[in-house]
Amino acid sequence: KRDLNTVEIGNKIIYFDTIDSTNNYSKRIAKDAAHGTVIISEEQSGGRGRLGRNWISPKGEGIWMSIVLKPDIPPTEGMKMTQIAAAAVCNAIRGVTGLEAFIKWPNDLVVNGKKVCGILTEMAGELTRIDYLIVGIGINANNESFLEEFQHIATSLAKEKGEKVDRKTLILHLLKEFEGLYEDYINQGTLEKTLAIIRNYSAVLGKSILVIRGEQQLKATVLGIDEEGLLEVKYEDGKRELLMSGEVSIRGE
Ligand code: BTN
Repeated sequence: KRDLNTVEIGNKIIYFDTIDSTNNYSKRIAKDAAHGTVIISEEQSGGRGRLGRNWISPKGEGIWMSIVLKPDIPPTEGMKMTQIAAAAVCNAIRGVTGLEAFIKWPNDLVVNGKKVCGILTEMAGELTRIDYLIVGIGINANNESFLEEFQHIATSLAKEKGEKVDRKTLILHLLKEFEGLYEDYINQGTLEKTLAIIRNYSAVLGKSILVIRGEQQLKATVLGIDEEGLLEVKYEDGKRELLMSGEVSIRGE
């Protein structure tokens, strides 16, 4: 805490040895929590991923954290927090470990083609107003135990780097990066700085991907990421579409 150099984000940090899920806990306290409150746990017994999946969160190996935000923005803007978080994590991983992390739009980070981080943003509020947003960030920092089973798709920073990563340093960098990008977005009303990072370190720009919507899978080429953070794709039949995060999932081809 003393080493923190942010203004609002992480001003209050709630730390657990174990919890069901830092996102769940955040939801329970969000109403009374200050903007920028950060929840961190050494272990999660019921870590959650996107699309109702589990998120394996073994003790002491990863960074399992949530940030509670109370921005004055419409709910339609909420998912931009995922982009801000992805850009922040990307810069933090690169800065702290030197590993070449890339962003797999919209909410995954990969190193050497394998997942090292996932982001789960959840929102509560009404049609026109957000009560609070919870940005859940899971980073496979020093994981070893689960990797056998998932080694074709997931890895950890330690595994790629060949040495353990100092989690505290990474968290401090991440919160600093996040606050900078968040403030920039709130003050400018645009995602300019975030987009520069997301485009620069994109794992999907110019690539062939599969767009998955329920049962349907379509091949597409990624043309760009627009000003709102939407993914511009072109299908094999020449049709173009702007994809929203949450609406689809994508896979490398
Ligand atoms: C995904 O890739 O599907 C998103 C994974 C998000 C995991 C993090 S870990 C901290 C926070 N608490 C949770 O239960 N999930 C998120």
